[in-house]
Amino acid sequence: MIVAVDGPAASGKGTIARAIARHYGLPHLDTGLLYRAAGLALLRGGGDPSDEVQAVAACALTGVDFADPELKSEAAGGIASQISAYPGVRAALIERQRVFAAQPGGAVLDGRDIGTVIAPAADAKLFVTAAPEVRARRRFDELERLGMKLPFAEVLADIEARDARDRSRAAAPLTMAGDAHLVDTSGLGVDEAIARALDAVRARLGER
Ligand code: DC
Repeated sequence: MIVAVDGPAASGKGTIARAIARHYGLPHLDTGLLYRAAGLALLRGGGDPSDEVQAVAACALTGVDFADPELKSEAAGGIASQISAYPGVRAALIERQRVFAAQPGGAVLDGRDIGTVIAPAADAKLFVTAAPEVRARRRFDELERLGMKLPFAEVLADIEARDARDRSRAAAPLTMAGDAHLVDTSGLGVDEAIARALDAVRARLGER
């Protein structure tokens, strides 16, 4: 069984995807980390993000530490959004994601194009969203917790710029799959958002 969870930055899709994975005992992949890791490798190697060939080379992800806290930074998110628009970068990372999704017991993946491109035949698809101000507030709080405090206005501007770029790119843009269930987490606490998402997945799987 494959569960696809897509949505914009800081919508709560990661928290929801992890909760679904825990509930069903499935492995979970945060696909944004792949793009963030490639972006960070490119930056650290002194590479040029406006050069697709260099960005594709960074997708080898050799020596990447997926526990590196820098992967969570706004800088890594911004560069990930930038290089994720290159078709070559998407192609370089697709196989890893499809292999993960095809594990015998099933999997939960979260990202931007899981329900549309990576696993279009997923058993359940969620599109998780929230108002930009709500998402910026969550990201602001998260960055503060991680010791990377930024002005709120800057975090909101970053979120809006990233949304615009992720939605408007030609290759696998962020868009809701026609058969996805919409979960708007704007007015919801974490527990309530998870409960709604699990209800939607159960309904999709025909469980009672
Ligand atoms: O979910 P995130 O904020 O960690 O993702 C960082 C960037 O990576 C996001 O702005 C766009 C890109 N991304 C993507 O293009 N496709 C995915 N499946 C996941 C992330």
